[in-house]
Order: sequence, then structure tokens, then C-alpha cells
Amino acid sequence: MKKFIIGYILLVIVNSATPLSLSQFNQCTCQNAKQQDDCLIDYCIWDPNQSTCSNKSCSVFNKNDCLGVPSPFKCVWNYTSSKCESFTKCADYTFSIPDGERCYALFKCQVDVNTINNTDQTVKCMDRTSDSAKSIGSCDKVPFNECLWLVTSDGKQCIRNTQTQACETKLITKCSDYTTNDSCNTQACFWEATTCKPLTCSYFNDKSCILYFSFDFKQVTFCNWNGKSCLDLDTTTLTQQQCLSFTLYSYIWDPDTKKCEVCSEQEESSSTGFLIYTSLLMALVFN
Ligand SMILES: *[C@@H]1O[C@H](CO)[C@@H](O)[C@H](O)[C@H]1NC(C)=O
Ligand SMILES: *[C@@H]1O[C@H](CO)[C@@H](O)[C@H](O)[C@H]1NC(C)=O
Ligand SMILES: *[C@@H]1O[C@H](CO)[C@@H](O)[C@H](O)[C@H]1NC(C)=O
Ligand SMILES: *[C@@H]1O[C@H](CO)[C@@H](O)[C@H](O)[C@H]1NC(C)=O
Ligand SMILES: *[C@@H]1O[C@H](CO)[C@@H](O)[C@H](O)[C@H]1NC(C)=O
Repeated sequence: MKKFIIGYILLVIVNSATPLSLSQFNQCTCQNAKQQDDCLIDYCIWDPNQSTCSNKSCSVFNKNDCLGVPSPFKCVWNYTSSKCESFTKCADYTFSIPDGERCYALFKCQVDVNTINNTDQTVKCMDRTSDSAKSIGSCDKVPFNECLWLVTSDGKQCIRNTQTQACETKLITKCSDYTTNDSCNTQACFWEATTCKPLTCSYFNDKSCILYFSFDFKQVTFCNWNGKSCLDLDTTTLTQQQCLSFTLYSYIWDPDTKKCEVCSEQEESSSTGFLIYTSLLMALVFN
């Protein structure tokens, strides 16, 4: 009986599709490819002698590839020179205020609200101050049009007040904290009847069945269309051909384990999970 219960718990841990933290999202790079099939020729160079895969230089990419390569490439599209360049540092980048969101496409950068220049209508980027994909220093100076669910490092969010046309700071801990249809965060939640509810994959049709974020933009959940409905993606069932693309370059095939494995280093929480797993196994062995 004991064995059965422990086995069941392990099965549940392995099969539940857990959201991926942002630090693990889109982190695969050429160096992670252990086989030529995964060394994508558009972005990488395969060395048949060493059986190693390395990244091409940013300068060879066109605009779409430049914006599309995974984060570790650190490539940046320069809209002035129309060239793909290597990322330098966040503070080197300035955009027009409506294009400020481009800071978030750079490597761990965010808009610096203290650099908004109303004379030439520009804003600079700065290093990210929290692990949210929509991190911001404060909501006070954010223009109404840009006031779309930015997240401060104390966990509050910038929310539009359509009546006053102001960008307000609100504590949000769940979708139902967004109290109007207009403020209901469309990338994590959906409005139904009179409440803002958390998204699940089953909400999407075949075209929109890709992924959704947690309300604070700190986690990503992948979805997958099975021919009839949209379901949580189970990475343990992916083949080598599906692994990279279905997970938007977050997982890659490991030929040793024959499994689709996350590219970034495991986080502390995962190693804690491993310890629990190991001690459960030990309990099983020694009892
Ligand atoms: C692989 O080895 C061959 C023979 O030694 C050599 O001619 C070739 O340049 C090497 N290729 C690479 C990519 O290093
Ligand atoms: C690979 O990317 C790194 C980091 O951006 C860069 O320094 C390096 O030059 C790239 N490799 C090649 C072959 O360009
Ligand atoms: C983009 O290109 C322009 C023109 O070549 C250059 O002056 C500028 O420094 C580049 N921007 C960045 C952020 O490197
Ligand atoms: C704002 O931009 C104008 C025009 O480029 C410039 O002269 C001014 O120094 C800038 N203001 C600040 C505070 O940087
Ligand atoms: C909520 O807002 C969206 C987008 O503005 C709109 O398409 C939808 O009809 C609204 N739903 C309700 C119930 O008001």
C-alpha cells in the first residue's frame, strides 16, 4: 500500500504540466544541440569533426531572424541602420515613447520611466529590476497608452483607469483583481460575464493555441492543439522533431536520456524537487 501511494505521488509530479519560469523560457542556443538535426542551419554552424554546434554571428541575420533567435544569442535589431547587431547594455538603447516596449525585446531590459523626454518624445532602457517580462520601476510616469499591466518590483501593476485616463498602481494577486473588462490582462486572463478569470489552454482555438502567461508575467504555460482541442503541452511526450519548436526553443532533445529536456540550468526549486524525489525513493528502498 505504501509503495502504491508513493508511486502515485511520483506519477503526479512527473505528469503535471507545470508552468515554465521566465528564466527558462526561450533559453536554448546552438551549444545545447548535441545532434546535427537540432543544430538549426539557419542560426547555427555544425562542426562535424568535433560534433559541436555554435551560433552564427548576429551580423548575418535579417530582421525576422534577428528578432526571432533565442535570448542567449543576444542579437538586437538596429532600426536606424537596419542591421542585426550584438547587444551591448540596456542603457545604450533609446526608443520613441510608443516604441518603448522594444526595451523588453532586448536582453533583460525594461523601460526607464525616469528618462522619458517629452521634448523629443523618447525613452531609454535600463536593466530589469524584477524577474517579470513586463518589469517597470514605477507606474507614476507611465503614459496612459503604455499603461498595460507593467509589474513593479513590489508586485504591484500599472492599470489603466479609463474614466480618469490615468495610469494607476494596483496590487494584483490574481485575475479577479482586475475589476473591469478593459483592465483584464488579456495575456493571462479573460473576461467572462462579470469577472476576469485565469486563462487555460482550453480557452484557445487552433490558431491561438500557443501559450499564455501568469498574471505577473513571471511564468509561461505552453499549449498544444491535438486536432480537436487545445491542451497543456506535455513535454515528456514530445519527439526530437517537436521538442525545440513546440517549446519555442526552451527544451531540446537529449540523445542520452531520449527525452525533451529544458535548456537552462535547473533552478533551486527544481533541485529541491529532486531532493524530495530522491528522499522518497530512499524511504521506499529502506523501509
Ligand atoms: C574537419 O577535418 C578535416 C580533415 O582533418 C578538415 O579538412 C576540415 O577543415 C575540418 N572541418 C572543420 C569544420 O574544422
Ligand atoms: C555567439 O554569440 C556570442 C554572444 O552573443 C558572441 O559573442 C559570439 O561572437 C557568437 N559566435 C559567433 C560565431 O559569432
Ligand atoms: C544603430 O545604428 C546607428 C547608425 O549606424 C548607430 O549610430 C547607433 O549607435 C546604433 N545603435 C545602437 C544602440 O548601437
Ligand atoms: C530632451 O531632448 C532634447 C532634444 O533632443 C534635448 O535637447 C534635451 O536635453 C533632452 N532633455 C533631457 C532631460 O535629457
Ligand atoms: C470586453 O472587451 C473586449 C475587447 O475590448 C471586447 O471585444 C468584448 O466584447 C468585451 N466583452 C464584454 C463582455 O464586454
